[in-house]
Amino acid sequence: MALWGGRFQGQASALFQLFNDSLPVDYRLFVQDVEGSIAWADAIASVGVLNADECSRLKAALSELLLEVGEDEAAIIGSGAEDIHSFVESKLIEKVGDLGKKLHTGRSRNDQVATDLKLWCKASASVIETKLKAVIGALLALAGRELDAVMPGYTHLQRAQPVTFGHWCLAYVEMLERDLSRLTDATARLNTCPLGSGALAGTAYAIDRHALAAALGFARPTLNSLDAVSDRDHVVELCAAAAVSMMHLSRMAEDMIFFNTGEAAFIELADNVTSGSSLMPQKKNPDALELIRGKSGRVYGNLVGILTTMKALPLAYNKDMQEDKEGLFDTVDSWGICLDMAALVLEGVKVNRANTRQAAEQGYANATELADYLVAKGIPFREAHHIVGEVVLHAIAKGVALEALPIESLQAFSAVIGEDVYPHLSLEQCLAKRDVLGGTAIKQVQSALAAKQAQY
Ligand code: ARG
Repeated sequence: MALWGGRFQGQASALFQLFNDSLPVDYRLFVQDVEGSIAWADAIASVGVLNADECSRLKAALSELLLEVGEDEAAIIGSGAEDIHSFVESKLIEKVGDLGKKLHTGRSRNDQVATDLKLWCKASASVIETKLKAVIGALLALAGRELDAVMPGYTHLQRAQPVTFGHWCLAYVEMLERDLSRLTDATARLNTCPLGSGALAGTAYAIDRHALAAALGFARPTLNSLDAVSDRDHVVELCAAAAVSMMHLSRMAEDMIFFNTGEAAFIELADNVTSGSSLMPQKKNPDALELIRGKSGRVYGNLVGILTTMKALPLAYNKDMQEDKEGLFDTVDSWGICLDMAALVLEGVKVNRANTRQAAEQGYANATELADYLVAKGIPFREAHHIVGEVVLHAIAKGVALEALPIESLQAFSAVIGEDVYPHLSLEQCLAKRDVLGGTAIKQVQSALAAKQAQY
């Protein structure tokens, strides 16, 4: 039965019902709706709307409902109720009769849905937090295994300077840590309880909203009823935090897709996260990583969706806001499964050190070292840069690495070059010289890793 109807003489059309009903989406707020209802029963009992016996009968019936329905989504959706709030109320009335009809006193679905959704956001944020930490853990483990594997670092996807594989892992740890802090920040801001705001003007019953907020685990009540029922910043912020984090996961996926190509062959992905081709027997495709990269698109779409839905809404509640949930749920689901998948992929990554090293040796990734060597011999950097450019051109023509050029050919470009140049051109030297906070020297990566390991 609908929660309204007295004012109507005609029936809602079947099409309108289908269009208007939100149960197929908001059934996911069942637990939160029951939780909010139990707290509301106490609140209205405290101002005499319910006597102690009525209050405990209502609460017992709500708890019973929670157990009965549990995770049986089909039972909720199949009920045909308009939304999750109607579902819970009608079930309550089925259980306790007319007493169930008292629960909605002083409450509106507007403050109810705002409260349910914030409770859902808080619970989801804590699930995502655990998953983010698991990916960080997987990156730290991989960094530990491959700390000193040398590989080329890229700019413009051109080999630039050698870095260690551990350094690459820790770069993504930094990004995911920022994702964590964005999540914590968004969760702290949404930690205010809208219940008691009524439809828009505040409930007419003198309930203690501080106590109600505390009962539901919120830090405090919201302070303006118009804002409380029409605020969806928390949806926007969670979607935004997810979008940024998915951007990071997508970049990490893209790096690994490249590392996994036959051309680079820096890593091999495990069989459990790859698939084959129906036609080409030799293929082992990085589907898990491609899907992570792909799902970032719809997570961005959901962010733009909610921003656009909200942008011109007048105060206070408007039905447009019912559109907030589908994108949010999809975002949190996508983010969560991508985090799980990223952790699983990272667990199975095998680095082919011979290939990463060989690639680092090619491509003149040590050219900066030669320039720095000239600088140490008193040549201004800009001039040194030019000289080394000419040396590289010459080496390319000969088809050899810088360190393979005989001393006489090097000296043809600059007389200051001596035999002592060769040690400067080794990969080990290139790495060892980046011994600065945040640099790729093995020592630095070791201490960065140890610091993170102590944290997680
Ligand atoms: N299903 C609605 C939503 O998700 C609940 C609030 C309905 N409020 C109302 N006044 N019709 O937004």
